[in-house]
Amino acid sequence: MSGARIRRGAPRDAAAILSMEAHFPSDRMSARSVRHFLRAPSAHVWVVESGDHLSGSLILLTRRGGRSARIYSVIVLPEMRGQGLAARLVAEAEAEARRLNLEAVTLEVRRDNVPAQALYRKLGYVEVRTLPGFYDDGADGLRLRKAL
Ligand SMILES: CC(C)(COP(=O)(O)OP(=O)(O)OC[C@H]1O[C@@H](n2cnc3c(N)ncnc32)[C@H](O)[C@@H]1OP(=O)(O)O)[C@@H](O)C(=O)NCCC(=O)NCCS
Repeated sequence: MSGARIRRGAPRDAAAILSMEAHFPSDRMSARSVRHFLRAPSAHVWVVESGDHLSGSLILLTRRGGRSARIYSVIVLPEMRGQGLAARLVAEAEAEARRLNLEAVTLEVRRDNVPAQALYRKLGYVEVRTLPGFYDDGADGLRLRKAL
């Protein structure tokens, strides 16, 4: 076990979260978006802290009057994968959505992202829609949903 811990993200984490985005194949967040999510009441951010650096993050978005929350971004750095950290991040997000009395969590995933789909399916997410050309490089997406 790595001794990594999960905590809420704070404005001081913006640069570290942004640097992790380099691991996404497409649709990376801008610095402005990251800074916004770390302050917006409708965004809920968790980070994985290992030693003096961050090795993962999750951003959950809610909408005023909405009945579901949306996982907008999840990442664990390659050297920390396979230890259950993403599953723990998603569990935090689901717990928050339950606290907010929401009925489901949704997310989009690339059709070619096998590890992420395996993660979500293991955690009980089911496909509700296909999203042709959803990503900015033209890749197809899937919308997944988990009822809480
Ligand atoms: C997808 C990602 C977040 C998984 O992070 P992780 O911390 O390694 O995942 P976990 O260790 O919590 O895995 C939990 C479960 O997911 C599944 N899983 C995760 N990675 C997998 C892989 N490479 N192959 C198959 N299944 C995988 C397994 O069922 C695993 O459970 P198990 O270890 O008991 O078999 C990570 O690979 C990543 O950051 N990828 C790049 C960014 C990304 O694609 N984000 C998702 C965008 S929607």
